[in-house]
Amino acid sequence: MDKVPLVVGNWKMELSHKSAVEVFSAMKKMMTIKEYPVEIVVCPSYPSLAVIAAESKASGIAIGAQNIYHEERGAHTGKVSVVQIREFVTWCIIGHSEVRAAEGDSDLLITQKAKLLLQHGITPIVCIGESEADHAAGNTISIISLQIDVLLSSLDRVSLLKTPIAYEPLWAIGTGVLPDSNEVCEVVLLIRKKIAEKFDTELAERVRILYGGSVTAENVQQYISGPCADGVLVGGASVHPRDFLAIAEQVGHAYAR
Ligand code: 13P
Repeated sequence: MDKVPLVVGNWKMELSHKSAVEVFSAMKKMMTIKEYPVEIVVCPSYPSLAVIAAESKASGIAIGAQNIYHEERGAHTGKVSVVQIREFVTWCIIGHSEVRAAEGDSDLLITQKAKLLLQHGITPIVCIGESEADHAAGNTISIISLQIDVLLSSLDRVSLLKTPIAYEPLWAIGTGVLPDSNEVCEVVLLIRKKIAEKFDTELAERVRILYGGSVTAENVQQYISGPCADGVLVGGASVHPRDFLAIAEQVGHAYAR
């Protein structure tokens, strides 16, 4: 199968511009030492995108944004549009739970953003996940089903094929609390089942599904060995070049086996 695993670093608001450039430069240097049989993306904050994008040429690391506004242009103070980032990035995270919580993004709006990004040649990474309360109440499968149904109702086959989906249980983000790998697998299989029902099994297998939430080089193995996730979305550990690339290396090798 021509599916390459994917490792995405979401730098959130963790680094100053100066530190972001230093971290990227260190990562780039380390990339020349080893082969990583994996697609690697890092997502700095907006003010660093232009400089890091220029630095990223021939580095083997692609650049993404952490969000966009759902309009292309206009009087939207403080917002950033796809048109403003498209020179710099080839990827963009959307639907992150931190954005959903802060901005109230609905599943429908997130789907709208996915379409907008695809129209401009940028690959969306769509985040989904359930809250701690929903997890405790045993609602994981129903919440994920709702989120996926909205996405599947408006993306066509070609769009979906290009769109990785990241399962990030909210209670695992930044907490060090890890879901059981079987639970993650169950969610990944549910997403594939839903894609197969709406489209076909070939597409269901080809769409890349990632796990995210407290991933480190020490714990990543459990989520990538076996038939489940096709990579990971990493927050905290992704601002440490050695740790992030150790994760990428393991993901690549697990997949190559
Ligand atoms: P952590 O890896 O810090 O838990 O963050 C995960 C995340 O939100 C990535 O988008």
